[in-house]
Amino acid sequence: MNILIIGGSRGIGKATALELAKAGHRLLLTGRNKDKLEEAAKELPPDTLILPLDVTSEESADRLLLFMEQQGFDVDGLIMNAARFPKAETKTSVIKPNASELSEILEANVVANYRIIQRLLPKLKAGDKIVIIGSTSGIRQDKGGVYGVSKWALRSYAYNLRAECKDYGISVSLVHPGATSTETRQKKSAEDVSLLETSDLGIMIATIFRLSKQAVVEELSIRPIVGDTY
Ligand SMILES: NC(=O)c1ccc[n+]([C@@H]2O[C@H](COP(=O)([O-])OP(=O)(O)OC[C@H]3O[C@@H](n4cnc5c(N)ncnc54)[C@H](OP(=O)(O)O)[C@@H]3O)[C@@H](O)[C@H]2O)c1
Repeated sequence: MNILIIGGSRGIGKATALELAKAGHRLLLTGRNKDKLEEAAKELPPDTLILPLDVTSEESADRLLLFMEQQGFDVDGLIMNAARFPKAETKTSVIKPNASELSEILEANVVANYRIIQRLLPKLKAGDKIVIIGSTSGIRQDKGGVYGVSKWALRSYAYNLRAECKDYGISVSLVHPGATSTETRQKKSAEDVSLLETSDLGIMIATIFRLSKQAVVEELSIRPIVGDTY
């Protein structure tokens, strides 16, 4: 399959790319930082495409479609992984962040996904798959602050999208990572079990693309055994 990963240069997106490449899929990775995309591409097969793109910009969907057309990348799978994280000082609060912080996080975590999926849907066909990356902060009150608000909204969007997409035979899956070790939040030592590995998510997300065209993983939540310790 030709699979597009929005936010594929680092963290969970990159780990998913590594797993999908092992399974023989052709990939297009996006992210804002070109150097990071090029670094990721070095670990992937030579037919991997990269496109620097900020999904919060309104013309991002047009640029993406044009690039895919120029490269002959007929998308069959879409992984919406990019997200904006909250400011560290106020990350657990819905009282302290001002309304503009809420708007920015909704723009990145909800509106950007809405915009890109809406533009790409006409390119998808029966049997194709959309995977949306949520968060365990979007399924429970988890001191998630405005980030949690955005992920709850994203979850509602994914449920509604799945209901509409079933008429076209397109599956919509929602994956909720718990606390995961990435560049921004690293394990304290090799023995630290408070954070998931990015490969835990990569393996689970890539597995969705092994399922038959009639199957949908509706919702999947993966957490460290000890729970999230944000
Ligand atoms: N890590 C966790 O503990 C955790 C927990 C729950 C849920 N999640 C969710 O899992 C997903 C991945 O998280 P992660 O921790 O792997 O994140 P990450 O390491 O920060 O990677 C995010 C990826 O998205 C790209 N990106 C970010 N903003 C973008 C934008 N405006 N336009 C285009 N690309 C953008 C990044 O590249 P550039 O920065 O170069 O743009 C990068 O490739 C997110 O949806 C996040 O909410 C993560």
